[in-house]
This record gives sequence, structure tokens and C-alpha cells, in this order.
Amino acid sequence: MHPLLNIASIAARQAGSKILHHLENIDRLNIEHKGKNDYVSEVDKEAEEIIIQTIKKYYPDHAILAEESGKTVVKSKKSDYEWIIDPLDGTTNFLHQFPQFSVSIAVKEKGRLMHGVIFDPVRDEMFSATRGSGAKLNNYRIRTSEQKTLNNALLATGFPYHDFSYLDSYLNSLKSFMQSTAGVRRAGSAALDLAYVACGRVDGFWEFNLKPWDIAAGALIAQEAGALVTDFMGSEHYLESGNILVANPKLYKEMAQTISKTIPEELRK
Ligand code: IPD
Ligand code: CA
Ligand code: CA
Repeated sequence: MHPLLNIASIAARQAGSKILHHLENIDRLNIEHKGKNDYVSEVDKEAEEIIIQTIKKYYPDHAILAEESGKTVVKSKKSDYEWIIDPLDGTTNFLHQFPQFSVSIAVKEKGRLMHGVIFDPVRDEMFSATRGSGAKLNNYRIRTSEQKTLNNALLATGFPYHDFSYLDSYLNSLKSFMQSTAGVRRAGSAALDLAYVACGRVDGFWEFNLKPWDIAAGALIAQEAGALVTDFMGSEHYLESGNILVANPKLYKEMAQTISKTIPEELRK
């Protein structure tokens, strides 16, 4: 295992233990309201701190972009390495003891995603990938499904929940997929949605308006498992736009066609 992936896995497990430990005492947690339907608990912050401390112990000069603390400035000049962290993806689920949440950690080298881990502490599932080396679930290689047609496909998605600018476009895509697939799931952790495409539990995933920390690790893991990962116009700028479409290569075209019919003009550029 690459040393950076090893440290990412250790940090994700440590954060996962902290999250599980608090799952039984949700009622006693301090919860802040970041914005409409956007909550952060002391667990998100503690988990993030654990991850950052572990990274700094081994790689003090690396840059870090973390959901709760933002960008950590590095003493040295510009670092070639950037860690992208979502300490708890699926906070709303966690706060309701709905067991679908994860820790997501990715590492970019010279601007390119190179390593990623997503850890589900409830099921003790560690999804991981290093560019060029394939993707794994725990120690086993994973691949996307072989599903060829939309009508037999099970898709994952995320509903808009605080920014409703593209709600109508999103609902159009959802309406279309509801009628053309075997089913659509909204489980509540985008990182796990991507990991589930990677291991074939779902055949494709799309969501509007995500943040880099929601998708950085999952995008690499899905790619290394054989998925195509793009924004809604087929470009690689999904980390910047936050609009992401992921599917096995056989299904990708059909999903992309459906989405391109439903998105507004400004997202077509
Ligand atoms: C959220 C989850 C959810 C997705 C949201 C994300 P958070 O992350 O990934 O599935 O639909 O867009 O913000 O806030 O729980 O880390
Ligand atoms: Ca998230
Ligand atoms: Ca989060």
C-alpha cells in the first residue's frame, strides 16, 4: 500500500471510531446550524481534528482542505500535496442515528487526485484507491457493475437540501430516471454513493452542487473501479462545478443523455 494511502486509512479509521463512539449519545452533542438544513456537530469537528493531527504528524508540509476548518496554510511555500477531507459525510443521517455516513479523505499531488479512502464505520468497510492501482473494498479488488441498460439499473442520487437554485432541473432528471430505471435511492452520503458505484451496489450516481470534499475520494475510487466520472457536460471539472455524473461505461451514455436534456442552459457551457 502506498504510504500516503496508508496514513489516509489510519486517519479515517481513527475518525470513524470517534464517530461510532458518539453515535450512542447523540442527545448530548453540541450541534450548530451552519445554514438552512446544514448542521455541524462537535463530532464533525473532533473527527476532522483527529484526521488533521495524523496527517500533520507524518506530513507537516502538506496543504489541507477540510470541510469544517477550510484551508490550512502551510509554512513552507506551495506544497505539491493537498489533502481533501470530509470528516463526516452524512451528518444529517448521523444526527438521526440513521446508519449511513462515512469519512472521506483524498490526496492530490500537483493538482491531480492520486489517493482516496472512504470509511463506513458502521459496516467496517474501507473503500480505497491509488491512481493506476485499481480500487478495493477492505482488501478485495472491486469493479463497477456490468449493467448495460437503464431500465434494469439501480441509481443513487442526492436531493438538493439547502441551495434550491436548480431544484426544477434536478426534479426533471429525477422524474426521468424514476420512470426509466429499476429504482433510485437517496441514502444521504455522497461519498458512499460513489463508493457503491465502484463496487457495483448501484449502477450510477448523479448529484448537483456538491463540494470537493464530498466527492474527491469517491471520484478516484469509482474511476479506478472502471467508472466514468464527469460533470454534466462530460468534462473533468466536476470538483469545481460540484455537478457529478458517475456510471459504469455501458450505462454512462444513457445517463448523460437524460441529464443533458434536463439541465438548464447555463450548465451546458
Ligand atoms: C452531504 C451528503 C449528502 C449530499 C449533500 C452533502 P455532509 O454531506 O454527502 O449525501 O446530498 O449534498 O452535503 O454535509 O453530510 O457532509
Ligand atoms: Ca459531505
Ligand atoms: Ca461533512
